[in-house]
Amino acid sequence: MPEDKHVTTRSQVKIPKMIYGTAWKKERTTEYVQQALSAGFRGIDTACQPKHYQEELVGKAIQISAIPRSEIFIQTKFTPLPGQDPNRLPYDAKAPLETQVEQSIGASLKNLGTEYLDSLVLHSPLHSLETTLVAWRKMESFVREGQIKQLGISNCYDKRLFESLYDHVDIKPAVLQNRFYSESGYDRALRKFCQDQQIVYQSFWTLTANPHILNSRTVQKISSELDYTPAQIFFRSLIQQGIVPLTGTTNPLHMEQALACLSFTLSSEQVNDVFSLTGGSVK
Ligand SMILES: NC(=O)c1ccc[n+]([C@@H]2O[C@H](COP(=O)([O-])OP(=O)(O)OC[C@H]3O[C@@H](n4cnc5c(N)ncnc54)[C@H](OP(=O)(O)O)[C@@H]3O)[C@@H](O)[C@H]2O)c1
Repeated sequence: MPEDKHVTTRSQVKIPKMIYGTAWKKERTTEYVQQALSAGFRGIDTACQPKHYQEELVGKAIQISAIPRSEIFIQTKFTPLPGQDPNRLPYDAKAPLETQVEQSIGASLKNLGTEYLDSLVLHSPLHSLETTLVAWRKMESFVREGQIKQLGISNCYDKRLFESLYDHVDIKPAVLQNRFYSESGYDRALRKFCQDQQIVYQSFWTLTANPHILNSRTVQKISSELDYTPAQIFFRSLIQQGIVPLTGTTNPLHMEQALACLSFTLSSEQVNDVFSLTGGSVK
C-alpha cells in the first residue's frame, strides 16, 4: 500500500508530510509558490508578517494555481508586535492584543483569498504566560466560529511553558513549529510530549543548522548506498520520526528532491543511526 502523504493532528487536520515555506521570497513569492504547487507541494506555510513574508503574493499563487481549496493545507501565523517591522504593520499597534489578533487573522484571510485557515500558529510566545493566553483565547474564538481548523505555536523551546500553555487552554496546540538544531538538544523532550499528545512537530532551519549531520559519515554512507542526496536522507529520517519538515527552497530540483522524500523508506536502523547524531530517536 502506498504511504499516506499526510499526518493527522489531534485536531483531526491532515498535514502534508513536507511543507513549502514562503519566507524571504519578497517580490518573487508568487513565482516560487506557483512552482512549488506545480511540483506537487500541497502544504503552504506563511505568516502575516510583512517583514519576512508577502502573504498576499502567496494568496495570488494559490489563486493562479486553481487547485481546489480543500486540497491545500494553508498555515499562517499571528506575529506579535516585537516580531513585526514597525513601519510595515499588518494591524494597529495601539489596539488591544485581542484586536491585533483579530485584525491579523482578517488580513490573512483576505491576503490568502480563503474563507478558512487550516492552521494558525502563534509566531512566538508573548512576554508572559498570561499575555500569551490572551492572544491564544482570541485565536480559539476563530476556531469555534469555524474560520480556523487548528492552532499551533512556534519558537517555543521551553517545555514547561509549552506544557503550561497546553494545560491552560481549551483548544490545545496541534502544531509546534521550531528551529531544529543542536542548541535546543533538537527539542527531544518537547518532541516526546508532542508525540504523546498527537501534536505535530514542524521543523525549520533543518538543513541550514545541520551541515555537520549532512556531512557526517553516517548520512554520506546512506546517501551513496541509496542514491538520494544527504538532504533527502536527513528530511526522510525526520519524516519517519513523525516530524514535518519545512523547506523554502527556490531551486526546482530541490523542490522535486524534497517531494521525493515521501516516496522512499529508510530502515529503522538507518533512521536510528541518523538520529543518533541528534542525541537519539524519540520513542
Ligand atoms: N516559525 C519561524 O519563526 C520560522 C523561521 C524560519 C523559517 N520558517 C519557515 O520555514 C521555512 C523554511 O525555512 P528554513 O529556515 O528551513 O530554510 P530554507 O528557506 O528552506 O533554506 C534552506 C537552505 O537550504 C537550501 N536547500 C533547500 N533544499 C535543499 C536541498 N534539497 N538540497 C540542498 N540544499 C537545499 C536552500 O537553498 P536553495 O534555495 O538553493 O535550495 C537554502 O539555502 C520558511 O520559508 C518559513 O516558512 C519559520
